Amino acid sequence: MAKYVPFPPISLPDRTWPNRTLTRAPIWCSVDLRDGNQALINPMGPVKKMELFRTLLQIGFKEIEVGFPAASETDFTFVRELIDQQLIPDDVTIQVLVQARRPLIERTFEAIRGAKSAIVHLYNSTSTLQRRVVFHAEKADIVRMAVDGARWIDELAKAERGSGQIRFQYSPESFTGTEIDFAVEICEAVCDVWQPTVDNKTIINLPSTVELTTPNVYADQIELFCRSFNYRQQTIISLHTHNDRGTGIAASELGMLAGGERVEGTLFGNGERTGNLDIVTMALNLTTQGVDSGLDFSNLKEIRRIAEFCTELRVHERTPYSGDLVFTAFSGSHQDAIKKGFAALKESGQERFEVPYLTIDPVDIGRQYDPVIRVNSQSGKGGVAYLVENQLGFHLPRRLQIAFSQVVQKVTDATGQEMSARDVAAKFVETYMKPTQTLIYHAHAPVDCDIEDQERHRFTVSYQGDKQEITGQGAGPLDALVHALTERFGLAVDIQDYHEHAMEAGSDSSAAAYVLVKTADGQELFGVGQHKSITKASILGLVAAINRSLLLSESG
Ligand code: KIV
Ligand code: ZN
Repeated sequence: MAKYVPFPPISLPDRTWPNRTLTRAPIWCSVDLRDGNQALINPMGPVKKMELFRTLLQIGFKEIEVGFPAASETDFTFVRELIDQQLIPDDVTIQVLVQARRPLIERTFEAIRGAKSAIVHLYNSTSTLQRRVVFHAEKADIVRMAVDGARWIDELAKAERGSGQIRFQYSPESFTGTEIDFAVEICEAVCDVWQPTVDNKTIINLPSTVELTTPNVYADQIELFCRSFNYRQQTIISLHTHNDRGTGIAASELGMLAGGERVEGTLFGNGERTGNLDIVTMALNLTTQGVDSGLDFSNLKEIRRIAEFCTELRVHERTPYSGDLVFTAFSGSHQDAIKKGFAALKESGQERFEVPYLTIDPVDIGRQYDPVIRVNSQSGKGGVAYLVENQLGFHLPRRLQIAFSQVVQKVTDATGQEMSARDVAAKFVETYMKPTQTLIYHAHAPVDCDIEDQERHRFTVSYQGDKQEITGQGAGPLDALVHALTERFGLAVDIQDYHEHAMEAGSDSSAAAYVLVKTADGQELFGVGQHKSITKASILGLVAAINRSLLLSESG
């Protein structure tokens, strides 16, 4: 016999779910404080549970499974504290898990006594494998167990009548390993006891306790269950997927197409083994399709910080939406496309978010544009230019983009490390604006000149620490300064290219100038100046370019 065998497909030739799309958010139920907590190396204590509970409320969960109070003293005390200290908002329902055993059910009712709205969640395992190797039980024994549990719950809920709303939930645990007709049979037997109505629905939760198949098979199982189930109209079909094959999110998404109306999961997919459905990702997947998820992840960074603190597990760098690297492009062509995408978006003013390589606007989840692009030795001019623009407000001319990306590449090649946005900006300033202080410009003023198309200017400069006045003549102040410097100090350069632009509104300086010079030995060097006066900005750019040439000749 083979060690591994394929999961038998579901025969459902007229399946309808593949033709549907997700147009509505499910009812979300967070199981962070129960399923997630049960799977932690260090389960949360009361302080962490409370902090996470508050965070779940802030996100907007209206149903929260707060624990397994009959199995854990911490959970019991926590549930009591929530109720006794009136910490549960009126529109929020707490949910508690329990097995089909009378003493456990009694203890569970003690835990929730006085709650305004609670869901008692009964479960027992129904899969063929567990029946055979764990319980050594026949189907009828398993049904009896569930029905007994349902009856005790019904009895105790009736006894509590008047103290608050109590709803019921049943999970045929390991549903995905259960024959569908048996899952239907046991859920119907439970509903026969609870007698749900259209106005008072029972929740039937169909867990992929262990993910055994591709997500389309889970969707088939859900659709087939829904079609066969006699209480479909009187129940809410809930999904509870785990992630053993890495497709827990896809399974919930396809399961919703197949009839799921409610989804249980955890923040960042914390949970047993490979985790539960990651609700953050599923909700933001809906957001990117224009569907309002009803959950607020606009401060995802803080939510992540709290979840990491409470679970003592870190969120991986590449986790969708929340990972450190998901808004980071290292490849030059990707950086270039992202830069162009943001520019096009800004220019068009369109509302629809369309930027290559990004599925969501980082701002919508409390992240910023500046770490969108990080620079390493694989990066190209586009990304580097984007960072300079983003950090300093400079729109670099193309030749300067190429020149500066080579400067950056040298650094990243030498260190083998990526450069942060701030490092890139600092390198730009150091290279093109303040390479050295050998030549310093202080002031200038025009002086009389009676030659047509020529101007004369007097400049106050310091050269090698010696402050002096020099005068030169040319087509404009830049040309005049080049002549003055050549005559007085022998600093001969040719201006090859020149660009200028106004800085963005709000900046304290109003203009940037990019001056490309050619030195006597044929080197082409950019200098950059920034000043309120465009003339001074251009002079500063020229002086910076000359200082670069001096630096290079000093270093041989
Ligand atoms: O994964 C599972 O089956 C569960 C049930 C208790 C719902 O967590
Ligand atoms: Zn689970």
